[in-house]
Amino acid sequence: MFIEKLKKIFDLCQKRKRLVRKGGRIIERIVLPLKSALKKYFPRLIHIITSRPKYCKNYKKICMLAYKYDSVFNTFKRHKDYRRVLEHVTDKQGQAYLDIIKEEGKDLLKYFSKFKENDMYGDPLEYTYEVGEFSPTTLRYIKVLCDLKNIFGDLNSLDIIEIGGGYGGQCKIISDVFNYHSYTIVDLNEVLPLIHKYLVKLNVKNVNYLTQYQIKRNRTYDLVISNYAFSECIKDVQNYYVNHILNRTKKGYITYNYDNSRTTISHPILPYNKKEITQILSRKHAIRIIDEKPKTNPLNFIIIWQKK
Ligand SMILES: C[S@@+](CC[C@H](N)C(=O)[O-])C[C@H]1O[C@@H](n2cnc3c(N)ncnc32)[C@H](O)[C@@H]1O
Repeated sequence: MFIEKLKKIFDLCQKRKRLVRKGGRIIERIVLPLKSALKKYFPRLIHIITSRPKYCKNYKKICMLAYKYDSVFNTFKRHKDYRRVLEHVTDKQGQAYLDIIKEEGKDLLKYFSKFKENDMYGDPLEYTYEVGEFSPTTLRYIKVLCDLKNIFGDLNSLDIIEIGGGYGGQCKIISDVFNYHSYTIVDLNEVLPLIHKYLVKLNVKNVNYLTQYQIKRNRTYDLVISNYAFSECIKDVQNYYVNHILNRTKKGYITYNYDNSRTTISHPILPYNKKEITQILSRKHAIRIIDEKPKTNPLNFIIIWQKK
């Protein structure tokens, strides 16, 4: 009787697991390519859709629940509302990131077993690469580290600030290689507790967690990083970050994933387009624009600067 019951529970769990995997594959093969195509031709529309309060609310809710309950934390990277915002890097893009790392960051290959720890929590979708099973999102964080290392050199002893830290993956990957002096993550109030929980579990040290309103006016940083985050904020919030962080930081690496220049010259609320943001940052820094590689959207680009 008891064995029968156990068997039933086991069968149910297997069935649920298969359904989750099937759901993941549908998102991977149909939803994401469709979203990518729509983004290419209707960037403004897609920005508005994904910024709709309903999605924001659900994303924040998952973050708060993952912080509160281990059962949610154990699988948060697979949740559909979470994957609308993060964890949507495809298998193929993961391979492209790995190819770049092998080409431009060979010395990082020895850290791969340490990097792999980033897939220990949240049950991300993983794929098999020649370096083993990896989530493509982790490979993207390693590729960003590869860029940072090649552009800025040694990150040891720096005060780093990241705007929009996701769950803290980029911070974890950087901490595996560099002994920074401090790493400050600025994110939403509802998201910071999850980042804190995640990084404590991985034993990542010297991290500060701030909302935008907690940034100290007289505090300066050596390097600002923001990937797919600063560029998704509305103009008012972007202005705040420009004045309080970007203008005052000597080195910068910003992946800019929104460009509304095709549809409108300037919009009062939506994020700055490429022309506007490059003009604004050029007032304070000698910026360079480099390609996002691989391109996850034809309009994406990376802004970098460093003062000698
Ligand atoms: C698309 S995710 C990118 C996360 C991470 N940078 C990465 O590359 O995976 C956008 C991030 O920006 C955060 N975010 C949204 N609004 C923000 C704001 N006003 N200030 C700071 N972060 C914000 C989100 O919570 C999320 O962590």
